[in-house]
Amino acid sequence: MKNNEHIIPSEQHWEKENIEEGFVLWFTGLSGSGKSAVAERVAIVLEREYDELVERLDGDIVRQHLTYDLGFSKEDRDMNIERVSYVAKLLSRNGVCVLSSFISPYIERRNKTRDMVTNFIEVFVKCPVEVCEQRDVKGLYKKAREGIIKNFTGISDPYEEPENPEIVLDTDKESIEESVQIVIDHLEKQGYIG
Ligand code: ADX
Repeated sequence: MKNNEHIIPSEQHWEKENIEEGFVLWFTGLSGSGKSAVAERVAIVLEREYDELVERLDGDIVRQHLTYDLGFSKEDRDMNIERVSYVAKLLSRNGVCVLSSFISPYIERRNKTRDMVTNFIEVFVKCPVEVCEQRDVKGLYKKAREGIIKNFTGISDPYEEPENPEIVLDTDKESIEESVQIVIDHLEKQGYIG
């Protein structure tokens, strides 16, 4: 069998010499920790100040489209991340800066994503559950405490903290602008932008 004969055409990918590799900023953390807020601001900076091609993948939005059939069991959460990781892989290998914000509570699944995509950068959005619960932007923690929502991350479902994240954001102590700057500084230092 010749090389690549087993690969279906749509799976083939030829690296184009003039296309720079993208990267995947993977924001992981509890609901209400600030993943989306920081990712949204980083996206604006990358587009406006660095003229980068950017796509955001956000749990609340993706779950209305690509993964609307999934719930919050471990199997469903892993499937959610598996599908999104595939999209992130396609985008990042074509030079797009991908900003993903998902709770993505399981280490093993996040590590599989790390192995799948081009230039995975894990961003641990670290915020104590008490602070997330106090913020309760969507009113979900209250419902979780009342038992109306089952398997709620941090209350009645696990969150496995990253062991070796590239970036840690302490969003209970930093302003959004400070967190954004930490991410941008990392990207510059690693030569991804600038
Ligand atoms: S993940 O675990 O599969 O990565 P994802 O980031 O897509 O989760 O979705 C999390 C969002 O769904 C939360 O921010 C919250 O708005 C909502 N949500 C609804 N039910 C739950 C639940 N049981 N646990 C966590 N988040 C939930």
